[in-house]
Amino acid sequence: MRGRDFLAVSDLGREELLQILDSASQFKRGLDPGLPLARRSLALVFLRPSNRTRVSFEVAVHRLGGHPIALFDREIEMGRRESVADVGRILDRFVDGLIARIPSDRDLRGLAQAMGSPVINAMTDLSHPCQVLADCLSVQEQVGHLEGARVTFVGDYNNVCRSWIEATQVVGLDLRVVGPPGYLPDPVPNPVQGAGRLLVTSDPGLALNDTDVVYTDVWTSMGQEEQHEDRRQDFGPYQVNRQLLALAPPRAKVMHCLPAHRGEEITDDVLDGPQSVVFDQAENRFWVQMALLWAIFQGPEESP
Ligand code: CP
Ligand code: NVA
Repeated sequence: MRGRDFLAVSDLGREELLQILDSASQFKRGLDPGLPLARRSLALVFLRPSNRTRVSFEVAVHRLGGHPIALFDREIEMGRRESVADVGRILDRFVDGLIARIPSDRDLRGLAQAMGSPVINAMTDLSHPCQVLADCLSVQEQVGHLEGARVTFVGDYNNVCRSWIEATQVVGLDLRVVGPPGYLPDPVPNPVQGAGRLLVTSDPGLALNDTDVVYTDVWTSMGQEEQHEDRRQDFGPYQVNRQLLALAPPRAKVMHCLPAHRGEEITDDVLDGPQSVVFDQAENRFWVQMALLWAIFQGPEESP
């Protein structure tokens, strides 16, 4: 995927996705990725808070020999001090790529159009592809295989959930999305890959009874803070606590993209319990993003 943008999981084909996971595993096991970003600078535009995404990308850019430049809203005031497209046109004159966390997916695509160099989606309100790409590696490691793995997303049909559905369409997972009526995908998207299956339900027992992974995320995403009270009420029965986890087989792993709102979507005893793999999961953000950067900046040239 040399020179390409990565704006959504569906930008990847099945082989490309599996290749990135394979490179990530090899880097994790000690393979030297070299310095494909030597003498290159990448801008990281973060209009929303971040711990994992920004730090793991900054460190990965540095590890590959590049120079990361983090920019925050207070500095560039994108769309206010300057139009989104103009920000892109200017950055493109200075840097070799852009990693952007911005609320609007449309703005992200506008930036990508304004820039000739590659743009990576570090999360919008619509999707979080880097998160789910890294989570695919965690599923592979924890379950033993990715394709056909039974992953149950418990909670809101949000950016992370949307990227999970795209992953199902690319590599053929057995994905279940379970949440309260009114917060579920409607209409239910259609998985296209051979082994891909998608179940959307409000019945946790149905979704969890043979699952390999119980995955959750916050009920109130960034930007939805004014809905917090309503959401706390509506999602209450879907808290990942000991009772809900007991609906899944004991071998099931608990995953969460983090940050967790402890005591809301997940309880401390589950997040810190023996089935939880959330900190190993978070570490994989680094390895997979390093593999993604490698594929974009060092991977084989593509024929036009
Ligand atoms: N999971 C994730 O994207 O975390 P941050 O918001 O801290 O980057
Ligand atoms: N759905 C969450 C993910 C945070 C990484 C949010 O958008 O706030």
